[in-house]
Order: sequence, then C-alpha cells, then structure tokens
Amino acid sequence: MFNCIQNENHYCNLFNGNWISTEKTITIFSPIDDKIIGTVPAMSKEDIDKVIANSKTSQILWGETPISERAEILHKAASILEGKAEEISKILMNEIGKDINSSLSEVKRTAEFIRFTADAGKHMDGEAIGADNFPGFKKNKMSFAQRVPLGVVLAISPFNYPINLSASKIAPALIAGNSVILKPPTQGSISALHLARVFQEAGLPGGVLNTVTGKASEIGDYIVTKEEINFINFTGSTEIGKHIAKIAGMVPLMLELGGKDAAIVLKDADLEDAAKEIISGAFSYSGQRCTAIKRVLVTEDVADELVIKMLEKIKCLKVGSPEDGCEVTPLINSESADFVEDLIKNALDKGATLLCGNKREKNLIYPTLFDNVTTEMRLAWEEPFGPVLPIIRVKDMEEAIEIANKSQYGLQSSVFTQNINHAFYVANKLEVGAVQINNKSERGPDHFPFSGVKASGMGTQGIRYSIEAMSRLKSIVLTVD
Ligand code: NAP
Ligand code: G3H
Repeated sequence: MFNCIQNENHYCNLFNGNWISTEKTITIFSPIDDKIIGTVPAMSKEDIDKVIANSKTSQILWGETPISERAEILHKAASILEGKAEEISKILMNEIGKDINSSLSEVKRTAEFIRFTADAGKHMDGEAIGADNFPGFKKNKMSFAQRVPLGVVLAISPFNYPINLSASKIAPALIAGNSVILKPPTQGSISALHLARVFQEAGLPGGVLNTVTGKASEIGDYIVTKEEINFINFTGSTEIGKHIAKIAGMVPLMLELGGKDAAIVLKDADLEDAAKEIISGAFSYSGQRCTAIKRVLVTEDVADELVIKMLEKIKCLKVGSPEDGCEVTPLINSESADFVEDLIKNALDKGATLLCGNKREKNLIYPTLFDNVTTEMRLAWEEPFGPVLPIIRVKDMEEAIEIANKSQYGLQSSVFTQNINHAFYVANKLEVGAVQINNKSERGPDHFPFSGVKASGMGTQGIRYSIEAMSRLKSIVLTVD
C-alpha cells in the first residue's frame, strides 16, 4: 500500500485517515455506455491484515469518545453529503445506471439517515434493573446495564444502493462506538469512496472508518473469516449471504438478502391505485431493488381489469439512458441481463402470456409483463432483479396467501384491498418482514424496522434497531450489604 492522490481517474482507499492505493487496480466501466469511469485499488490479503489491525487499534479511543461528540461528527457528515448531493448523484448514476432523480434521492435520503442516526444514538440509554422482583432476591442488588460497542464492524454493501446501504451500516455502527471497515460492491465502489471522503471531511478520526476495495471473489472469504471482525453487516444476494453465514464462524451477523415480494390484489381493491403502485414498485430502477414487486397474485374476478390498467401505466415508463430521466435503464452487467432473458424464455416456453416487452438492446431490457404465469415456471419463484413481472391468477385470498408463503423468500409483501379486515387477515398470515397495505413494497422511512425472514435475511435494520444490533448490553452488578 502507498499514499495516493485521488484524481479524476483513480480513486483511493481510506486508511488510518489517509488515502492509499495499491499497484494492482480494478477498472470500473459504466453500465450505461461501457465507458471507463475510473480505477480503484485491488487490495491484497496482506493489505487487509494491515487495515484490520488499524481498525482494531482505532476503535479503542473512538469507543471512549462521548456519544455527543460522535453525534456531532455524524451531523457534520450529513451536512457535507447534502452539500455534495448533486455531484455524488451524477457519479452514482454513471456507476450503477440509476436514473438521476433516484440517484439524487438516494444521496439526500442518506444524509437524513445519518442525521437521524446521530440523534437516535444520543437516546440509546442503558437501564438500572432492580433484583427484588425476582424470587429469592432482595433490594440490595442492582444491575447497571449500558450499551457498549462490539468492536470492528465489517460492512459489505450491494451494487444497487452503494451510498445508502453503505451509510445505513456505517452510521449506526459509528454512533455505537465501533470502528468500521467498508467493503463496497466493486461496481459501486467509486460512489462508496466518495461517501468515505465525506466522513473524513467531517472530522472522523483516522482508522475509525477504513475502506477495502477489491473483487470479493479474491478477498471476500478472507476478510469475512478474520477473527478480529466482531460483526458482519451484509447486504446482497441470498447465495452470498448464505455462504458468508457458513464460513464466518462465531461472529454475529446481519443479513439483508434477496426477495420475491408479492403484490396481492383482492377483488375489493382500488384497481387504479393498485396498478399505479405495482408498476412503480416493480419497474423503478429496472426492478433492481430488493423490495421491488416481483410477482402479482390477483384474484381471477378482477384480473382482466387490473391487467388493462397495468398495461396503461407500463406504457408511460421511460426506457433508455438514466441521463435522460428514464427509470428503466440498462442492467448492471450483461450476466444480469442474460439471467433475466433466461427467465423470460422459460416463461414463454412454458406457455405464459406475454403482454409487453421481451425486447433487449445490450443490457437494456424493456419492461416485460407476463400474464397466466403458473407455479411451474421459474418466474414464479426466482428473483429476476430486472424489469420483468409475472402475474399469477388465483381463485381467492387463501390461494394468494398459500402461493405467497411457498416462496423461499420473505422480505415484504403488499396487499391491495379496501376491506380493512381482509387487509389484516392477509397481513397476519404472510411470512415476511413487513406487509404494506395499499402501497408498494419499500424500505423507507429508514427508521422503520426492516427485516427479512427465511432466505431474505437475518436480524432487523432500521436506525434504532441497527444501533442495537451493533452494540451490546454490558451489565455491571452492584451488591450492597
Ligand atoms: P452480491 O453479488 O451478493 O454482492 C453483494 C456484496 O457482497 C458486494 O459487495 C460483493 O462484492 C460482496 N461479496 C461477494 N462475495 C463475497 C464473499 N465471498 N465474501 C464477502 N463479500 C462478498 O449482491 P449484489 O448483486 O451486489 O446485490 C443484489 C442482491 O442484493 C439482490 O439479491 C438483492 O435482493 C439483494 N439486496 C437485498 C437488500 C435487502 O435489504 N434485503 C438490499 C439490497 C440488495 P463484489 O462486488 O466485489 O463481488
Ligand atoms: O434494494 C434494497 C433497498 O433496501 C430497497 O430500498 O425500497 O427504498 O428502494 P427501497
């Protein structure tokens, strides 16, 4: 590792408060037009050892820093990020192909996230617990339970939200007194390094946030199995999440993984509203959101009418370059586009009715809608992470619940109905982290609890819950005679 000066083409890693690089680098291309955006260091296992040692040492002082001082730095970071929102959102757009409005909103939302975290951290009080309510104990004993940091948090973020889903790990970990090593997605690392710079400029002491870039296929297993790591906070695919859970050993984990969110539409739904929510939920950022609506389960009696309304809305989607304000944009890489194409082909082969789409230009896939999808088709179960949406017709609410719950995933679901009893009946039966009533599935606001069950994850995010997860209650017990 050597000191480096960040320039327009080469981006450096944050290490102990300085910017460093390596001989070996990775070139990042834009998914929009394949143009080179820049290069990032490809860190080696030896570099990672140095980073971990530094993060371990730096955490000690940071853990002892008063929470109000940590909060002040986070507030500064939020303001700096807000000030750079235009600049960073353009970088984000180029690097991950997200439309400019959504890119801007990701950056602004992240600034709010950091600010809210700083305030929430100040209210994470401990508690004093008396003993005499437990049989056999008297008033002479008391536990003083306070929140203490875990140590070094390894934050691993996915390509689709490299700013927001990096910060949603970094900020709660920092306010709780941990040091953080950020391993950003390779495609998304330039955006994430800009975020790291924001924390540095806000006055975060050296080593409290370090970044590690490099292809996970080369360094991923190495870093997640280092015993100095005290918590792994991972967002990404179910496949990689399960792999990390297997190899990481006895380290607490937070896993935010894939989803197959269902929109259940009942006969008493406001179909106009349901169609609007479903199309926006399924196709924004080309369906590359964990919470995108990934299947529609509609009762037969209203299916035809819903399909007409969905087709009307789908025609209004802008398809093309994110620079032109399009919301359906080229997918992150050609492997992802090939995968989506395979799912489309499988649905066609098995007799699904193609309503629109199935057109591809390089990595750009036009919004594709299928009717009469059956449970024999891959599209009924697999997460496309692309702009293709299956409609499965069901006879009633019970069948919708049954199919929804058969999925290996359990992130979110939506139910569309104007009957509050039906809404709560379905919501109570669904095996997911959250159910949205008459709304598309979505993560925010970011202080709400956010979790997945089954193959969708482990643990609960959301500002307060994330701080709790990345700290622990330490009890000091006083006994007096
Ligand atoms: P991914 O391929 O699983 O990668 C996620 C991150 O893990 C990247 O930083 C990747 O680095 C790293 N990684 C890969 N293999 C690793 C290993 N062996 N050890 C350590 N790190 C490793 O996922 P993605 O394609 O970026 O994101 C899309 C997926 O994320 C979708 O399935 C989506 O549903 C899910 N997601 C879930 C949520 C949620 O909140 N539930 C939110 C967003 C996304 P490299 O880039 O270097 O490979
Ligand atoms: O991709 C996963 C994100 O956490 C989803 O966030 O629902 O705000 O798009 P979103």
